[in-house]
Amino acid sequence: MSKVQKNSIVIKDLFKSYDGKANENVIQEINLEIPRGEFFILLGPSGCGKSTLLNIIAGFISKSGGDFFIQNKEVRGPGKERAMVFQQPDAALFPWLNVRENVEFGLKMQKVSKVERNSISDKYLRLVGLSDHEKKLPEELSGGMKQRVQLARVLANDPEILLMDEPFGALDAQTRRTIQQELIRIWTHTKKTIIFVTHDIQEAILLGQRIGIMSKGPGSFIEAIYDITLPYPRDITAPSFNDIYRKVQSHFEGNGMAENVVNF
Ligand SMILES: Nc1ncnc2c1ncn2[C@@H]1O[C@H](COP(=O)(O)OP(=O)(O)OP(=O)(O)O)[C@@H](O)[C@H]1O
Ligand SMILES: [Mg+2]
Repeated sequence: MSKVQKNSIVIKDLFKSYDGKANENVIQEINLEIPRGEFFILLGPSGCGKSTLLNIIAGFISKSGGDFFIQNKEVRGPGKERAMVFQQPDAALFPWLNVRENVEFGLKMQKVSKVERNSISDKYLRLVGLSDHEKKLPEELSGGMKQRVQLARVLANDPEILLMDEPFGALDAQTRRTIQQELIRIWTHTKKTIIFVTHDIQEAILLGQRIGIMSKGPGSFIEAIYDITLPYPRDITAPSFNDIYRKVQSHFEGNGMAENVVNF
């Protein structure tokens, strides 16, 4: 089997220009191979094109050029095997549906029977720790709880690939830490491929098996990939964690991006 076939996602020389002019590429020469089941992080300064790249992978926007394959098939739009978790859960949840109904929405659209829907939503509500809140409406939930509902709903649809665009950026530090650990636990259980966008170095090292660092835009590309071999769950206070943090941070500083580094 060739190297390419083992990969779930293969991106070659991909570029995007919003205005169609080649000299105004937001991202360019993006080359990336993400094996099935990997937890991959896209890390980069604000405005470098992380969301652009993730939205192309989701199929929400078109690429201007280059190649993009999932399991050897060229991708031309959205697909059931991919799902996005957005930064703002309010935009993703239906305010008139309660927690369980929100989680079951996609299944209902697919005409999954009520009994099966209930058993699937039971499982994912438990996984994200919301079983006791299933009757609540989104307006009765905290930001962290809403984000968990969104995650449970995406997981209930059972996509192979989870795309996450700074999903915890709006949460307070404590809630963020809890939900990050939950995501690791879920990923360990489900073995899904995750592409997670962040501009927070600590979050990147806490979560990812590999971190792709995007250069400052315009014309941004993936300028380095870090392998993070620390075992999960990771301890942000461990010296080994700190060593990697310093390496990644100095990478940013060395490339004139220090102003975009998030410190804790
Ligand atoms: N629909 C659009 N039309 C034109 N330009 C756009 C559009 N969307 C994004 N851009 C531009 O593309 C560049 C990259 O934007 P993008 O949102 O992908 O960056 P990002 O890395 O996700 O930033 P952030 O960390 O702030 O979310 C920016 O200069 C932005 O202004
Ligand atoms: Mg973005």
